[in-house]
Amino acid sequence: MTDKELFGAAVKAAAYSYSPYSHFRVGAAIMATDGRIFTGCNIENASYSLTNCAERTAVFKAVSEGVIKFKAIAIAGSSDNDFTKPCTPCGACLQVLSEFCGDDLVVILSNGWFKLSDFLPVRFGSESLK
Ligand code: THU
Repeated sequence: MTDKELFGAAVKAAAYSYSPYSHFRVGAAIMATDGRIFTGCNIENASYSLTNCAERTAVFKAVSEGVIKFKAIAIAGSSDNDFTKPCTPCGACLQVLSEFCGDDLVVILSNGWFKLSDFLPVRFGSESLK
């Protein structure tokens, strides 16, 4: 699957976004090292802070099926169905991604491709607990 196709899967996933409060639809598609793709959307709640971002939905779907190794994630977000403006992953999602992914996880946005370390150069991880 190409970067463009993975981004397309993220745009498709945004169609299921439950975002009655922000009206900002986000979709994510994460590719496991075995090639499997898991998609997710943002899921909001009337108690706003309980909102789950699209990236975390995708990661949690994968982990709940026993998949914990990933090579790339595509993220698409828009308030008007124009997914050309980049939607950068939030800090909480970067921390969740960093639990399962190395610095070299490829992050595909509408404006190109990045590494996880571009957004989160220094992380809090399990080694910090020792
Ligand atoms: N959101 C995501 O799903 N992913 C991000 O990386 C940024 C923000 C969602 C959360 C909320 O439902 C909406 O976008 C507006 O913040």
